Amino acid sequence: MSTLQHQHILLAVTGGIAAYKALELARLLVQAGAKVTPLLTKAAQKFVTPLSLQTLSGSAVLSDLFADAEELEIGHIRIARSADLVLTAPATAQALSRAALGLATDYLGTLYLATRAPLIFAPAMNQAMWLHPATQDHLATLKQRGAIIWGPEEGNLACGEEGPGRLLAPAEILRRLEAYFTARSSLKGIRCLITAGPTQEPIDAVRYISNHSSGKMGYALAEALSEAGAEVILLHGPTSAPPPEGVTRYLTPSALEMLAQAKRLAPRCQVIIGAAAVADFSVKNAAAGKLKKINLTHLELRPNPDIIAELGQAKQKGQLVIGFAAETERLIEEATRKRKEKNLDWVVANQVNQVGGVFGAEENQITLVQAHGAEEWPRFNKKELARRLVKRIANHIQAKQKGEA
Ligand SMILES: Cc1cc2nc3c(=O)[nH]c(=O)nc-3n(C[C@H](O)[C@H](O)[C@H](O)COP(=O)(O)O)c2cc1C
Repeated sequence: MSTLQHQHILLAVTGGIAAYKALELARLLVQAGAKVTPLLTKAAQKFVTPLSLQTLSGSAVLSDLFADAEELEIGHIRIARSADLVLTAPATAQALSRAALGLATDYLGTLYLATRAPLIFAPAMNQAMWLHPATQDHLATLKQRGAIIWGPEEGNLACGEEGPGRLLAPAEILRRLEAYFTARSSLKGIRCLITAGPTQEPIDAVRYISNHSSGKMGYALAEALSEAGAEVILLHGPTSAPPPEGVTRYLTPSALEMLAQAKRLAPRCQVIIGAAAVADFSVKNAAAGKLKKINLTHLELRPNPDIIAELGQAKQKGQLVIGFAAETERLIEEATRKRKEKNLDWVVANQVNQVGGVFGAEENQITLVQAHGAEEWPRFNKKELARRLVKRIANHIQAKQKGEA
């Protein structure tokens, strides 16, 4: 049985030459058991007719934001909320701009803003349009928000030019959708504990010790774990990053608060990830009021607990414990040492002085250190990196369940 069975896919078709291929895609989706709600932009109707798409998808075509009957119950919001996925194929340069800029100028633009469903785009356009910095900037924005972009392929384009711009074949889009929905349930029944962000250790009523961690990597991981069907418990320090959807969150501002919650929750979890940048020290003589400047030279520091090391040392049979290591020198050596000393299964090692930075950046380049060696990964957007790490976790758990690991 296809993993698309009973999935509600909103198939948005926009105005490019490749729109005719969306008819075949709609047919394949229906054949795989998906419920397809088709949407045609005004421009797309110059290329394919609503009647063709309606016939192949088995559902009425959405197009007019101001259709009286539909809007009696604010149809565009209802539909935006009921979809499991919004797939735009083909996606024009204009559709990518609408989504990136939040332009609610038509049904599709409104839907991009109103939906909480994941967005997948399969772009198709002239190669110069694709390579234009405006299009590339919009793509970067969409990726940063977690959208998935499939294609385009390189090849002969309908406009007679050659280069990147061809829509992926409908069968390939279907294959990727099936893999996507498989991944969405790959951690079903698995409970994960993840720590993220910095901790803040008070000096007095107005000052604290902390670090540059933004929490973005840990938040992206929490979201990706949840997308894969896991039950996620997130312990986080103070951060301004937008909180991830679908997870149980606890604010644990200091290392001691984070440790107490982590120790309480870890025994119930099969996967434990320490992505938080826990401050190394706290102030023994922290003041309730505001200290005079002169007294700041007499702070007594005490080392904070190493939370992931404590969780590693208390590891139970079957638990997968993963730590993060931020280094500026001897990355692999240090990560390997930490893996052993803290009894961790994997260490995600970060060269924090990498080109483009890590703290607060949208991208990250890691080296995954496991018992059998270190593997250098390319630099990815943090959301994409999180999805890839989660895929590794799911593969590891599945292999273990089959007795192979
Ligand atoms: C013959 C023709 C072919 C087009 N093909 C594409 C295309 O493949 N990709 C694209 O981004 N725009 C293409 N366009 C331009 C779009 O139709 C135009 O930007 C339109 O505003 C897109 O609107 P929509 O995103 O609402 O569908 C084409 C226009 C014409 C006239």
